[in-house]
Amino acid sequence: MAVSIRQIHPHFVGEVSGLDLRKPLTPDEAREVEAAMDRYAVLVFHDQDIDDEQQLRFAANFGPRENRAGGTVTRSEDYRLSSGLADVGNLGKDGKPLPKDHRTHLFNLGNCLWHSDSSFRPVPAKFSLLSARVVNPTGGNTEFADMRAAYDALDDATKAEIEDMICEHSLMYSRGALGFLDYSEDEKRMFKPVLQRLVRTHPVHGRKSLYLSSHAGGIVGMSAPEARVLLRDLNEHATQPEFVHVHKWKLHDLVMWDNRQTMHRVRRYDQSQPRDMRRATVAGDAPTVARQAAE
Ligand code: OGA
Ligand code: MN
Repeated sequence: MAVSIRQIHPHFVGEVSGLDLRKPLTPDEAREVEAAMDRYAVLVFHDQDIDDEQQLRFAANFGPRENRAGGTVTRSEDYRLSSGLADVGNLGKDGKPLPKDHRTHLFNLGNCLWHSDSSFRPVPAKFSLLSARVVNPTGGNTEFADMRAAYDALDDATKAEIEDMICEHSLMYSRGALGFLDYSEDEKRMFKPVLQRLVRTHPVHGRKSLYLSSHAGGIVGMSAPEARVLLRDLNEHATQPEFVHVHKWKLHDLVMWDNRQTMHRVRRYDQSQPRDMRRATVAGDAPTVARQAAE
């Protein structure tokens, strides 16, 4: 069956049919999906009852896997998943929802803030692929914002002002915004800020996008309040309804997004009920700031 894609938002997001992700893709199919990612930035696949291995194999079509070390406060011996997928639902090792005061749960609430995955890493993520294994009955929609369309809609003066700006990103900024402030010395070292350009250019089609994320907490050469006011304004602009798509999860949906061209967030959900969401992350290929590479 041929792959077909229907755009479901005026700016971005394609809904894909004609692929069974339990089976390996042909090279042609993999190229088609990658080209669709460049164009739509978010792709939605329904009815994909896949296991972890199949999810990782699908992700491997688009590049090497990102090393997940350093992105969480959960100790590796407490990981629920051993497959290499990131565990982004609310379950503990015992398969039950984490208690409301659990440190991992409190830290994971950072996903409710608009962000781009791994912008806190020196080489940030390319694609993320999220599979819904158990859908929470209340809330838990994931929202996406098209950062190319948001960039295009800026006025020329703002575009010129921000063109060469460089931001500092750290997990301590996004979590700090929620009042999560206690870190061990090891965590502080792990979450040391990294540099990212504020405006990125897509390597294939050359469109520019605003590279924002709740992990961004400073701009090089600017005072903290001035930087944060500018970042707030840009975030407010970029997440207006016009640029946002809301994904309401159905069991076995798989949604993949390009972190270089979009932001996303999950909405609040019922923490007493399970939500099992598993993410494969495709690594980026270079830092966005040349001098970051030397650090
Ligand atoms: C992620 C993420 C949102 C969600 O997987 O990177 O932010 O819906 N998840 O759980
Ligand atoms: Mn995320």
